[in-house]
Amino acid sequence: MAGARTLAGVRAQALLLLGGPEVEPLRAAFTDLVRFDVVRAHLARTISGPDRPHTPGVTPGVTAEVEETGMGRLDGRTALVTGSSRGIGRATAQRLAQEGALVAVHYGVDGDAAAETVARIEKDGGRAFAVRAELGRPGDVHELFLGLEQGLRERTGSTALDVVVNNAGAQTPAGVAPEDVTPEEFDRLFAVNAKAPFFLVQRALPLLSAGGRIVTISSGLTRVANPGQVAYAMSKGAVEQLTLHLARHLAPRGITVNTVAPGITDNGSAVFDDPEAVGAMARLSAFNRVGQARDVADVVAFLASDDARWITGAFIDATGGTLLG
Ligand SMILES: NC(=O)c1ccc[n+]([C@@H]2O[C@H](COP(=O)([O-])OP(=O)(O)OC[C@H]3O[C@@H](n4cnc5c(N)ncnc54)[C@H](OP(=O)(O)O)[C@@H]3O)[C@@H](O)[C@H]2O)c1
Repeated sequence: MAGARTLAGVRAQALLLLGGPEVEPLRAAFTDLVRFDVVRAHLARTISGPDRPHTPGVTPGVTAEVEETGMGRLDGRTALVTGSSRGIGRATAQRLAQEGALVAVHYGVDGDAAAETVARIEKDGGRAFAVRAELGRPGDVHELFLGLEQGLRERTGSTALDVVVNNAGAQTPAGVAPEDVTPEEFDRLFAVNAKAPFFLVQRALPLLSAGGRIVTISSGLTRVANPGQVAYAMSKGAVEQLTLHLARHLAPRGITVNTVAPGITDNGSAVFDDPEAVGAMARLSAFNRVGQARDVADVVAFLASDDARWITGAFIDATGGTLLG
C-alpha cells in the first residue's frame, strides 16, 4: 500500500513538472495552494518521505482511523524531547522514533551522548537530530528553538511540532537537608525544572499542531515526603501546575497536556551498578524492582498517541506502585 502511494506521488510530481498545457490549471491551483503553511508542510513531508503521510492529530473525542499498514502511531509527526541524551529522555526519544516520529534530541552539554541517541534511533530505522541548549541560562529557550526550527525545516519543510516532552531536569541525587539548601541551589532547580519548561511551552505554542501533545516529567516526590529533596520536589510541584492550567487553555486546540511522575528509575548512573543500593531502592516499589527508563518512556509514548486523546490535565503515577505506601 505504501508502495502504491509512493508511485502515485512520483507520477503526480512528474506530471506537474513535465506535463504540457493540459496540466496548466493544476499548476495554477498548486501555485495558489502552496501559499498556505499546512499545504507546504504536507507536500514537503510527502516528498521527503512519501511512505510516511502526515497524520494530523485528532480532536479529543473523535476516534482516529487506524490504517492497517503496520505504520507507527506517530508516523508523520514531529517531537521534541528535552534532555534526551541519556536516561528517561533517551528511552523516550527512541520510543517515539520507533512509533514513526521525527525526534529532536535535546541536550545541555553532552553532545557525544546526544549523538549516540541519534545514532541508536537511526540504526533502528528512525529519524532524529540533536539540538543543544543549556536550560536555566539566559537565552536558553531561544537557542533551543533556533536549532529545533532549523532541524525541522530542513527535514520537513515546516516548523510544525506535534509532541513536546519536558524531560530535562536538574536533580540533587544525594539530597540536601532543608537547613543546607542555598538560594543559588534553589534558583538552579527552579530555573531548569520549572521556568525553562514554562517558557519552552510558551515558545512552542505557535508551532504546535491541532491535536498536539505536551508531556511533562515530574516526580513521585511531589506525593511523598523526603526532606532531603524538598527544593527539588518544590520545583516539580511548580511544573505540575503547568499541566493543570495549560490543559484548560489548550483544549480548544485539541492539544492535551499531562504530567508523568516516575519513581526511582535506572538512568544509567553509577548508583544503579551497586546491587545493595539497587535492592534498597527496589523495595520502595510495589513490584520490588527499580524502574527502567523504558517503563516511563512507554507511558509517555501512550500519552503522545491518538489513543490518549481523552486524557488531559492528568497526573500519571509511573512509580511502579511506590506511592501505594
Ligand atoms: N531517574 C529517576 O529516578 C527519576 C525519578 C523521578 C523523576 N525523574 C525525572 O525524570 C527526568 C529525567 O531524569 P533522568 O534520571 O533520566 O535524567 P538524567 O539521566 O540525569 O539525564 C538528564 C538529561 O537532561 C539533560 N539536562 C539536565 N540538565 C540540563 C540543563 N540544565 N539544560 C539542558 N539539558 C539538561 C541532560 O543533558 P546533558 O547531560 O547534556 O546536560 C540529560 O540529557 C528528570 O526531569 C527527572 O527529574 C527521574
